[in-house]
Amino acid sequence: MLTQTRTGSLLHQDHMRTIDVLQAIQEMTHRHPSAPAVEGAVRADLERLADTMRAEVERHFGFEENHLFPLFSKQGEMGMVVMLTHEHRAILPLALEAADLAAAALAGGFEETGWRNFRDVAAELVEREIFHIQKEEMGLLAAIAALLDPAADAALSEAYRMAVGGEAGE
Ligand SMILES: [Fe+2]
Ligand SMILES: [Fe+2]
Repeated sequence: MLTQTRTGSLLHQDHMRTIDVLQAIQEMTHRHPSAPAVEGAVRADLERLADTMRAEVERHFGFEENHLFPLFSKQGEMGMVVMLTHEHRAILPLALEAADLAAAALAGGFEETGWRNFRDVAAELVEREIFHIQKEEMGLLAAIAALLDPAADAALSEAYRMAVGGEAGE
């Protein structure tokens, strides 16, 4: 999709990275009907999941809620802001739970019950978060392009860089 603003393209890059990780986790859980050994590709997928979910919660959601959504509320886009914020509230605990379960498995492996629980949490997270990202990709990025002038875009993408805290991504 076409992203015409710097801010939109930064968010878009985050979205694509997150979808990548979620799809890898989905495929991994489908490949293993019973608890896999936490090594090799399984280990790598869990590490990426733990890292990405914490980053998503701590800075991406935070940036959207603290910097972007207030601008849209001021422009009268309350409906979109309320809907996306509600989705964040539903996804955030799932993302943290998935990250915690992944971290625990990285430290101590999976037992069958723990594996089933992880698969359930991951499946719900994948479904909700991919749907949320698709909505933002369709609505939010277009709204950013329509509502931000170049100066506001520059200020916002700078705020994003500050929120990211110098960690330039992979
Ligand atoms: Fe969001
Ligand atoms: Fe987003």
